[in-house]
Amino acid sequence: MKKIGYCVAGLGVGKNHVSAAASNPNVGYLAICDIDEGRLEAVGKQYPQAVRYNTFEDMLKDPEIDIVSIALPSGIHAEYAVKALEAGKHILCEKPIDITVEKALTIEEARIRTGKKVGVIFQNRNNPVMREAKEAIESGAIGKLILGTFSVKWYRDQPYYDAGGWRGTWAMDGGGSLMNQAVHTVDLMQWLMGDVESVQGLYTIANHKIETEDLTASVIRFKNGAVATFVSTTCCNPSRGTFVQVYGSDGCIELNGDKVDAWKIRGITPEEENAVKEKYVKGSAAAVQADPTLVIGHASQVNDIIDAVIHDRDPQIGPMEAIKAVRIINAVYESSRTGKIIRFD
Ligand SMILES: NC(=O)c1ccc[n+]([C@@H]2O[C@H](COP(=O)([O-])OP(=O)(O)OC[C@H]3O[C@@H](n4cnc5c(N)ncnc54)[C@H](O)[C@@H]3O)[C@@H](O)[C@H]2O)c1
Repeated sequence: MKKIGYCVAGLGVGKNHVSAAASNPNVGYLAICDIDEGRLEAVGKQYPQAVRYNTFEDMLKDPEIDIVSIALPSGIHAEYAVKALEAGKHILCEKPIDITVEKALTIEEARIRTGKKVGVIFQNRNNPVMREAKEAIESGAIGKLILGTFSVKWYRDQPYYDAGGWRGTWAMDGGGSLMNQAVHTVDLMQWLMGDVESVQGLYTIANHKIETEDLTASVIRFKNGAVATFVSTTCCNPSRGTFVQVYGSDGCIELNGDKVDAWKIRGITPEEENAVKEKYVKGSAAAVQADPTLVIGHASQVNDIIDAVIHDRDPQIGPMEAIKAVRIINAVYESSRTGKIIRFD
């Protein structure tokens, strides 16, 4: 079997894609691409086997490359993803898939037109505790879903926003704390709670000099009747973490990052609940240490797209699944601007 040619475009968080591709045994050709020569040089030194490109367009002409990771600023994901698909490459796109539903849909259209594979990063779905929570909720172990409370209380200083240039801008980041940082948790919310019926929200700039927002608060109603509150901020100094709390008619699951605060599912004894807490006491990393077959983080999805190409199957998270979080986030922004409840079909 021919080995896979893998290129990573964008060498910020893209470095995680490079390390995952470099250690995947099915990758036989590695390339990196960035317009920033300093980053190209630094990552190139670390991976001397990687072929370097300083323009995306030149990289696309390389016939050895089968898959391209798009780890570019969020507002240009669709533009570059579509170019890559039309050049015959499969893609793995960073979150958010793009900053508007309309632009994200152009990736889905190009995927259908070209028949190539498209995966989208939401690596937190692969944290072992999150998988176990999803299975428990789906099995009915907490009963009928009633309430979710989700909060992302993080800190980003002003230099963080100033450094990227694109961060905290409507054109390239598409928002702030919600679109950039909390998009993972918005995805987890809809994954755990179900399809959204309506969104009511507000955003504000609480403590940064940026164009978009650094704080949002919203109320989400789901088609199954459940309700959730969602808070995101990059003003919580020091960062307090990410809280995912789901309550049903017969129990609840409360997570603080990937540690368990409560696991009160139907029929569970206090000893069994303690055993679940103990299993994740040091987070997902400890669970991975206990079971070396588990792969988390970016590597889980880099491995997934490679396997999807080799076995001609759909990647774990495709465009239509990834678009759901972008739609919810833009509804929060629209609701804040108009003062209206945004209803989904
Ligand atoms: N999954 C995660 O946990 C996670 C974490 C951080 C960032 N991200 C996402 O990854 C993306 C990149 O974020 P980042 O923090 O790495 O940003 P960054 O600004 O640090 O890196 C982006 C890189 O893209 C390069 N670039 C820009 N335009 C280019 C072009 N036309 N051709 C080639 N290279 C180009 C820049 O030079 C830069 O090195 C964003 O969409 C962000 O939301 C995801």
